[in-house]
Amino acid sequence: MDYIVLALPGNQFFAEEIAGFLQTNLGKLVISHFPDGETYLRVESSVENKKAIIVCTMDYPDKKIIPLYFLAKTLKSLGANSICLVAPYLAYMRQDKSFKTGEGITSDYFAKLISGFADELITIDPHLHRRNSLSEIYSIPCKVIHASPLISEYIKSHILNPLLIGPDEESEQWVSEIAKNAAAPYLILKKIRLGDRDVQITLPEIKKYKNHTPVIVDDIISTAGTMIQTVRLLRKTGMTAPACIAVHAIFAGNSFDELRKNGAGEIITTNSIAHQSNLIDISHLLARNID
Ligand code: R5P
Repeated sequence: MDYIVLALPGNQFFAEEIAGFLQTNLGKLVISHFPDGETYLRVESSVENKKAIIVCTMDYPDKKIIPLYFLAKTLKSLGANSICLVAPYLAYMRQDKSFKTGEGITSDYFAKLISGFADELITIDPHLHRRNSLSEIYSIPCKVIHASPLISEYIKSHILNPLLIGPDEESEQWVSEIAKNAAAPYLILKKIRLGDRDVQITLPEIKKYKNHTPVIVDDIISTAGTMIQTVRLLRKTGMTAPACIAVHAIFAGNSFDELRKNGAGEIITTNSIAHQSNLIDISHLLARNID
């Protein structure tokens, strides 16, 4: 099969890795904006009869979705056989139910939108909470890759005597796996979300682990509210500064600095979203998973 790899702005690094792995070139793409803000897009490479792989991580998705849609449609109009979307971070997974009267289930709507123009999807650790798999909402084949083996490796080689901490019940799915592979004990806390930036977390009795290094592991850091509350509780017990690890580094506003100010130790994320805390490279995991 002939491939062509196309990077939406900001996705060059991953796209190059994938193109290298598939021994193909990066497609040439011009994207700009008209004076009124509308998107202009031109594909300058031949895509006819090729499988087009679009690389676009989906943090801040609202401004990315139109260029992505236009690119997919343009590629098809130019004769591409199929479109594979590689989205290291997949957005709109957290509004997976109607929490208050009048709300829509936007994870479903987003999934329908993507399924309408892409033929397959590859992503890393999507936030599956009330859903068991992406196929419940996406109607195209989806491949989910897990960063947990790389996180376990990082912990094993960089953190002495770790105690893994999952900040809420849904984190148990990845924390237990990471702990098993890092041969470390783990605890799962209880979290109640009171608002976008407001969470209440309860810490169980932790005395017997007082000489461990706490390592808080979560899938996403968005406002960092979850990490900050957990760090504060752990610091109150007199434990050493907790390491904070997440797959997806959204870090809205000044939340990264806030997390540091509140007593976090090392902050470690994968490069599914480019950020200064990226210490775990997942690009080869992605590249290996393109069929
Ligand atoms: C929970 O729903 C997720 O696993 C994360 O704990 C959450 O998204 C983190 O968000 P924030 O950084 O805004 O607390």
